[in-house]
Parts: sequence; C-alpha cells; structure tokens
Amino acid sequence: MAMGMGMGGPGGGMMRGFRKDRSVVEHKLGEGVVRRVLGYARPFRGLILVFLVLIVISAVLGVVPPLLFKDIIDRGVLGQDRQLIVILALVLAGVAIADAVLSLVQRWFSARIGEGLIYNLRTQVFDHVQSMPVSFFTRTQTGMLVSRLNNDVIGAQQAFTSTLSTAVSNIISLVLTLIAMISLSPLLTLAALVLVPIFLIPARIMGSKLADLTRRQMQGNADMSATMTERFSVSGALLVKLFGRKDYEHDSFAEKADSVRGVSVSIAMNQRFFMALMGLLAALATAMVYGVGGWFAVGGALSVGTLTALAGLLTRLYGPLTQLTNLRVDVMSALVSFERVFEILDLKPAIADKPDAKEASGIASVEFDNVTFSYPSGADASLASLEKISVGDRARPNEPVLNGISLSVEPGHTVALVGPSGGGKTTTTHLIARLYDVTGGVVRVGGDDVRDLKLASLQHQIGYVTQDAHMFHDTIRANLLYARPDATEDQMWQAMAAAQIDELVRGLPDGLDTVVGERGYRLSGGERQRLAISRLLLKAPPIVVLDEATAHLDSESEVAVQHALDTAMTGRTALVIAHRLSTVRNADQIVVLQHGRIVERGKHAELLARGGVYAELYRTQLGGTD
Ligand SMILES: Nc1ncnc2c1ncn2[C@@H]1O[C@H](COP(=O)(O)OP(=O)(O)O)[C@@H](O)[C@H]1O
Ligand SMILES: [Mg+2]
Repeated sequence: MAMGMGMGGPGGGMMRGFRKDRSVVEHKLGEGVVRRVLGYARPFRGLILVFLVLIVISAVLGVVPPLLFKDIIDRGVLGQDRQLIVILALVLAGVAIADAVLSLVQRWFSARIGEGLIYNLRTQVFDHVQSMPVSFFTRTQTGMLVSRLNNDVIGAQQAFTSTLSTAVSNIISLVLTLIAMISLSPLLTLAALVLVPIFLIPARIMGSKLADLTRRQMQGNADMSATMTERFSVSGALLVKLFGRKDYEHDSFAEKADSVRGVSVSIAMNQRFFMALMGLLAALATAMVYGVGGWFAVGGALSVGTLTALAGLLTRLYGPLTQLTNLRVDVMSALVSFERVFEILDLKPAIADKPDAKEASGIASVEFDNVTFSYPSGADASLASLEKISVGDRARPNEPVLNGISLSVEPGHTVALVGPSGGGKTTTTHLIARLYDVTGGVVRVGGDDVRDLKLASLQHQIGYVTQDAHMFHDTIRANLLYARPDATEDQMWQAMAAAQIDELVRGLPDGLDTVVGERGYRLSGGERQRLAISRLLLKAPPIVVLDEATAHLDSESEVAVQHALDTAMTGRTALVIAHRLSTVRNADQIVVLQHGRIVERGKHAELLARGGVYAELYRTQLGGTD
C-alpha cells in the first residue's frame, strides 16, 4: 500500500498535529493503562490479526514493482526479450490490481475495528455518565463532557487503526525496502541514506511546532463553539438582546475568530514548508542515486535496471521514515486519549444501588430521622478538568445546609414546607428520591432507608413537579409517554383532562404530536406546568413532591394549575413547598424551615397563634390578612 506523506493532507494534518504534542510525549501514563487498552482490543483480536496480515501482504507487494522494473530493463529491454517484457508488465498490472483490492479490504477491517471500538467506548461512557449523581452535573460543563465523548473516544480508537497500521506497515516497508536496496547495491543505499539525518531533524522540529500551533487552533475552535452554544440558546440570545450587548458580543467573538485565523495561517505555512522540505530532500536523494548510480552504470559496475529499481525503491524509503519519526508521539497521544476516557469511567457514581438493594415496599410514607446534609465539595462531585472555571476551594467541604431535620409524612397525608428562601426546603425534598444522599441521619420511604432500596424502584414511588418543569424537544405524546411508556391514548387524554390542559392540546395544530420543549412550540409557564402535572398523573406515583409549582404563574394560570395540583395530591402522600395560603392551611402538618433547621411545626391555627416565624411568613409571604 502506498504510505502517503508523513504529515497527511491539510485536513489530516490537524488531527495528527494535535497528537504530536510535546507535552503528550512527556506525559506519564498511569499504571496499567496499556493493559487496560489491550482489554478493549480483545473483542476484536480476530479482526486485528487479519488486518495485520493484510498490512504485511501489502507492504511486501509494495516492494515488488521496483524489482520488476529491473528485470524488465535488464533482461527484457537490454536482453531483447519481448515475451518477458509482456509477462512482467502483466505481473506489474496484476500487483497493482491486487494492491488496490487489498487496500479496500484493509480499510474495511480497520473501519470495523475502529468504529467497533468507538461504539463500545461511547456506549460505556454514556451509560456511566448517566449513572452519575446530580451533583456531578451541577458542576460539570456540558460542552466538556460532550467533547470527551466525541474527540477523546475518537482519539483513543486511533491507537488501533492509524497508529497500529502506521507502525506495522511502515516498519515492514522500511525493512523490506532496505533489504531490497542493499541487495541491489550497498553503495547506492548508503548514498541514499546520507541525507536521512539531515531530513529527520527538521521533521521533528516542525512536528512539535505544528503540534503546538494545532493545539492552539483546537482551543480557539472550542472557545468559539462554546460561545456559540451558549449565545445561540434561547435564553442566551434573549439575554444578549435584552441587555443590548450585540456589539460587545461581536467584538469578543471576532477576537476569538481572529486568533484562530492567525494560527491557521501559520499552520498552513508550516505544513507547506514541511512538505516542500520533504519533497526537496526526496528529490535530492533521487539526484544522488542517479548521479552516483549513473556514474557507476557507465563503468558497467551497475546495470541500468538496478539503477531504475533503486530509484523506485527510494520513493518507498522516505514516506515510512517520516511517519516512523512521529510514531512514538502518535502512540502516546492515543494512550492519553484513552486515559482521559478512563478518567471518566473511573469516577465512582456516589449514588448507586447496593448489591443487596431491595424493591420499595409500596407503603407511601416518608420519614426524616435527624437528617444532616451538606452539598458535596467539587473534589467529591466531579473532575476538575470538566469544570472549565476551576474553583480554588474545590476540596473545601460545604457548610451544612440541613441540620437535625426530623419529620414524618403518613400515607395519604400532606406536609407543607414553608420558610424563607434558602432555608433548605428544596434540598430536603431532593433527599427523598436520592438526588443526593444524607450526610447524617436517615431518610426512609415506606419504612426503609432509601439507601437500601433499588434506585429505579424508589424513583418509581415519587413524582416531582417543580417551578421549571422540563420537557424534552419532542412531541407532547413522547413527553407524556416518558412517564409511562405503556400509556394508551385514552389514558393520556384523561391525565390531560385532570390537569386541565386537554382543551389546549386539542386546539394545537398537530394535537398530541405537536413538538414542545426546548425549541418546540412555546407553551406558557402555566401550560407547561399543567402538562408536567399530567405527566405526573400518568406516572401515578404514591408520593408527590410539589416544589413551588405555582410560584412563577400569573393568578389566572395559578388557579388552573392549583386545580390540577389538587387532583394530583388526592389520595397521595404529599410534600408541598407552597407560597399559597390554601395549600398550606389545609396541610396535615406545616413545617417551618429556617437556616436548615425546623424552627416550628404544627397546624395553621396553632402556628398563627404562636406569633413566631410562621405568623410573620403568613403576613409577608403567604399574603394572609387576619
Ligand atoms: N447544588 C448546590 N450546591 C451547593 N449549595 C447549594 C446547592 N443548591 C442549594 N444550595 C444551598 O443550599 C441552601 C438551601 O437551598 P434550597 O434548599 O434551595 O433552599 P429553599 O428551597 O428553601 O429556597 C442555600 O443556601 C443554597 O445556596
Ligand atoms: Mg427552593
């Protein structure tokens, strides 16, 4: 197979350049990375074996044509043997065809191996990231995570295809070419190799310079796309418009684009310089071989055919040499990509099923027993390399947010959580579904410590409606089915009727198949909330948590949503964070949270009579007048 040039084309140069990073070579690989990487190769060992055999065959085929040239000239042309010329020309053609077919087959194998590996790594990383707790996502930059899933996974598979084939085929080509050359003429081989050292030194220097430039180019590109992702999201675009910062945005984007422009021009020139240098040296070596060889051919010390063969072999000497010069860096870079992927796979999901986890009992009670909680620190929750804005105090433990919380909700009862903003109400509810784990004490659902239950079965027990209900960018139908995949159309309409959203959906152009969510049809706050409630009704969990579900709504939609919420709470165990008097007043128990502690609890009338925090809240927040 033709080996191509060391730096690849302008496009290929970027990937290759990046992998030729100096710092990458100096990077120390962790223990066992190589062994672990080989583990990923194991499923493909059959394919890899065939692939290597094919590479060897095509490397051998590559050396054949120049040797045939020799015989065509020496024995055919000079020996006046026309028949031999025809036969050898046909053999040459046959080799060329075999080479072409082989290259296709080889590509099929390398694609199967490479893409198979990407598939395995991708699905594994995706599943693993999904199993990470919320704290991981609150700290991690989505863009960084996505780039691990894309770029690093692709970088990692290169170890198996490009790098593997580059190494094997170039070493074999080089050895075979050298053997052939030496056997033809040791003297001319020496003449050809005289220039090699002169050639290798600039190749290495240029390689690392290009690596540095390419890394800067990639950073610049990443910067630009990060800006675009954020500014082109609906809320980002809105913010820019509302603050009239279009010119500022232009300038800051132009600055990034400009630095990419500058670096890219340098890369183009460096690459061309490298190519020109390489072409020049190959041409000089050819001149050398023809010059020295021609000199000896005149004296009869060398046949014309040998001279031609040597010139042909020469072209197969420089390509492999260039690629092998950079091979070590390529291998190391591929391994580093693997390591970056492993870094994610090695994050232990802090919240996971115990080996002996059991199903939830189905009893719809919730109990907090002396619960203390502080949010996990950055070091515990995520990877510094995924956070972009690195915070100095990653390791510092956070202040406790909840302190000695004890409360219980009997099946079918409603407990209202009230208190000033930041008091810990939302945090409290998050502990029930194990979005976070307690730092001290126990949270029980149906009498069982939530940490002893299977996560899926626990989450099946609980439904949340929050202020900002999220819908996927998909149809209303798909969003509803997400809560209950086997729901019939009738059941969906019932749920929507109960949430008083059916009229609206019926009136939409595509009804149930209207696309909503992030970029779809914009539902108003109240409409989205009611759709979220119908989703909850379809899920029909025995326990519901309503976290200020009506807080952002105007009074008209609030009434509609409140009706829907009342339906959702009927017959269910409910924890309600509300700012609405009627919900709070009718609760079986009101719990007042302030600075992470329960400061008061009881029924509405008792608490009001006490004249404490609740009485104050009643006047200021709940809008009470009596
Ligand atoms: N993801 C988080 N990481 C660290 N601290 C948080 C996080 N979420 C909330 N907090 C802090 O926890 C405290 C309680 O917040 P929260 O439970 O949302 O209060 P409430 O719902 O009563 O307004 C606040 O001081 C808040 O700053
Ligand atoms: Mg809150």
